[in-house]
Amino acid sequence: MIILAIETSCDETSISILQDSDIDKRILSLVTRSQVSVHQDYGGVVPELAARAHLSNIEPIMEQALAQAKIELKDIDAIAVTGGPGLIGGVLVGVTLAKALHVSLNKPLYCINHLEGHALTARLSHDVAYPYLLLLTSGGHCMFMEVLGFRQYVLLGQTLDDAAGECFDKIAKLLDFDFPGGPTLEKKAKLGDPTRFIFPKPLQHEPVPNFSFSGLKTAVKQTIEKSTLDEQTVCDIAASFQYTVGEIFKERLSKALKCSQHKVERLVMAGGVAANRYLREQLQHVCANHGIEAIFPPMNLCVDNAAMIGWVGIEAIQHGVLPSESDFQPRPRWPLEQLHL
Ligand code: KG4
Ligand code: ZN
Repeated sequence: MIILAIETSCDETSISILQDSDIDKRILSLVTRSQVSVHQDYGGVVPELAARAHLSNIEPIMEQALAQAKIELKDIDAIAVTGGPGLIGGVLVGVTLAKALHVSLNKPLYCINHLEGHALTARLSHDVAYPYLLLLTSGGHCMFMEVLGFRQYVLLGQTLDDAAGECFDKIAKLLDFDFPGGPTLEKKAKLGDPTRFIFPKPLQHEPVPNFSFSGLKTAVKQTIEKSTLDEQTVCDIAASFQYTVGEIFKERLSKALKCSQHKVERLVMAGGVAANRYLREQLQHVCANHGIEAIFPPMNLCVDNAAMIGWVGIEAIQHGVLPSESDFQPRPRWPLEQLHL
């Protein structure tokens, strides 16, 4: 079975061709074009510009993905597309192309939840067996979830305000780093002293592994405002902030392990923030102490990409899930826990 997958929910236009085969032959092609240059001057993603960029990029990217996979549209057995949650203009571009392919090729359409894509990425990249504990942390989400099986997701805790990636991006902006700020902040943090500034760890006395990053963000903002921002101070603020996020992640992981219904043997970290090597290492320490295997998908599958969407399509078909209706409406919000077999 060959599946064409489309992802346009934020600022990455991505198309992938996958087949349901052994791990090393699954991704026939994956073409992802970032819109960094489009949004750079604004210091954040501008939804209207994102939608327009998706519209102009999507067809050439599809041609490229087909050429790399050495297949033609007629060889495709199904179409998978991000149906939400995300920036609605962008989701609409992907869903419209997917519906056009569905009608013209007469092949089934699977509208996929973007978060489910992140949640199952490690099964695509590492064949990770169910069940596992998932820390999904991106620009829009931060949550601990038990992935007990396909479409058997139990939410253990989530952010009550900002997502961790959003917090990285906002602090990076205050420190005048280029957009997107997360990766730059990580680089600067390497050169800084993580003990110079003490920042709060909101919700640390709660038993539930929820997150709250707005108080941390405000504390860092206040420090930035009252400091003389020489190069060393900038690096020290970045290091102290990243250290605090690492401590929060470790402490919430310990709580998530206590709250889980199943005996956790594997932790998967997914989403764009999982690209951060320091945070990966911190979680790895906790896992090692508990005898738990820590799994991190490769960087190109951690950030937004169509291969993870195609993989969910493949699992859906394998589980006998019926295709989406042709009049599926893109969803700006779509909680993962709403999905059931
Ligand atoms: O999953 P993703 O590509 O898009 C969303 O669905 O949000 O995640 C993007 C987020 C951004 O907030 C970005 O700053 C963050 O992931 N990110 C990082 C790093 N690389 C990307 N955050 C911290 N350290 C990084 N190295
Ligand atoms: Zn994402």
